[in-house]
Amino acid sequence: MEVTADGCPVEVYLLLPAAGEPEIVHGAVPPGASILELGCGAGRVTHPLLSLGHPVVAVDDSPAMLAHVRAPTVCARIGDLDLGRTFDAVLLGSHLINTAVDADRRAMLAAARRHLAPSGRPIVEWHPPSWFDSVASGQGGRLGEVAISLADVVLDGDLLSATVRYSARGRRWSQEFTCRRLALETVLTSADLVFERWLTAERTWFTARVSDGPYREERANRAG
Ligand SMILES: C[S@@+](CC[C@H](N)C(=O)[O-])C[C@H]1O[C@@H](n2cnc3c(N)ncnc32)[C@H](O)[C@@H]1O
Repeated sequence: MEVTADGCPVEVYLLLPAAGEPEIVHGAVPPGASILELGCGAGRVTHPLLSLGHPVVAVDDSPAMLAHVRAPTVCARIGDLDLGRTFDAVLLGSHLINTAVDADRRAMLAAARRHLAPSGRPIVEWHPPSWFDSVASGQGGRLGEVAISLADVVLDGDLLSATVRYSARGRRWSQEFTCRRLALETVLTSADLVFERWLTAERTWFTARVSDGPYREERANRAG
């Protein structure tokens, strides 16, 4: 069984349908907007975005996931990405921003920032702070033919660890994860981004814009 570096079972992501994510992104960008999708997996969101008329470049560090993506792909760590071009929107979904590793979060947001066109927007899915107080072992549901449940939920300060269990077609998979509760303004400010608006009533998706003034990386480079 193929598993990504962050523990995602590839087979599960091939079975999972999109769950409204493509429409949220589509509704937040101009018609035909170009999209850089970071952490695209097997194309669960990529393929509907293509159908909605968006040229998508799809990035993941898992060759096993990318083998299933029917769009131009780049196999890279998000934080290392430097394509030398910009996009109308950069999609950072799947709560990747909630990584427990602060340096990874900074690198992801910097990558998103450096691939944004002047009027471009990052489109981000996150776990809002209230989610950390509502999660409990035994919660779950179904997405397409995949039954999903949470186990071993432990909240330790700002860190939440859990195991997500998947079952479908008589098979079972599990994935452990740890994520961090974030102060959004602080996180965005450190990437020279400014919150723009919520895209869902649950405040699970938002857009941002580039803050005024020279970009931090450029300043850092100038400073040598
Ligand atoms: C939870 S899966 C979600 C995939 C897809 N966004 C979806 O919604 O179906 C997360 C994906 O992000 C990729 N990923 C996580 N961290 C990454 C990183 N730092 N650089 C590149 N890919 C990463 C994993 O390999 C995996 O395919």
